[in-house]
Amino acid sequence: MKPVIIAVAGGSASGKTTVVNEILGKLDLKSVAIIKHDDYYKAQHNITLEERTHVNYDHPSSLDNDLLVEHIRTLLSGKPISKPIYDFENYDRSSKTEIVEPKKVIILEGILILTDERIRQLSNIKLFVELDDDTRFIRRLQRDIKERGRSVDSVINQYLNTVKPMHHKYVKPTKRYADVIIPNDYNHGVAVDIIVSRIQKILEETE
Ligand code: CTP
Repeated sequence: MKPVIIAVAGGSASGKTTVVNEILGKLDLKSVAIIKHDDYYKAQHNITLEERTHVNYDHPSSLDNDLLVEHIRTLLSGKPISKPIYDFENYDRSSKTEIVEPKKVIILEGILILTDERIRQLSNIKLFVELDDDTRFIRRLQRDIKERGRSVDSVINQYLNTVKPMHHKYVKPTKRYADVIIPNDYNHGVAVDIIVSRIQKILEETE
């Protein structure tokens, strides 16, 4: 059976993970693989940590889409992949990898996931999670300090220098490719129900 591929884009800290969990909660499926685009940030073992902190991680060129496309095709052919794991505190790809088995539903999630035409074409359903910029910034500040080992100053500088301009240049324009735009600041239960029905329909058709 060919897996259903769902691509979930949206600005940084827009709540992509939460929306994915809501969809999965209603699907009651055991066979799901979630692949975060973040894990495909390019390895940068040849530059120093100080240099790595200044890389523009919100530009499409910072991600290894060739590897991700190869992995999606491998999963589609029914074979497992050895997925890289990204280490945010060290700003680099970690030395460990994770085996991901082919599943009925494959979710691809990331701010820039819809910028690559190959990934868009491989996806059955494309979603864009939307949330106000100020709310996203506050959430990112809290998260990066708590979970990614960052300081207040580093989060603010990165936001102003790269995250915000790249959001307007690369992330936001991909909204036009989305089949459904999900507002994440008020009740989006209907949008989630529509997406869940669509996934169920594709699963029934391909069974
Ligand atoms: N990033 C970073 N440092 C790195 C690599 C990436 O700060 N070494 C940041 C990029 O600036 C990018 C962000 O990671 O903006 C992408 O992650 P984000 O979408 O914010 O995380 P999710 O948990 O996937 O978001 P959501 O809250 O929507 O689930």
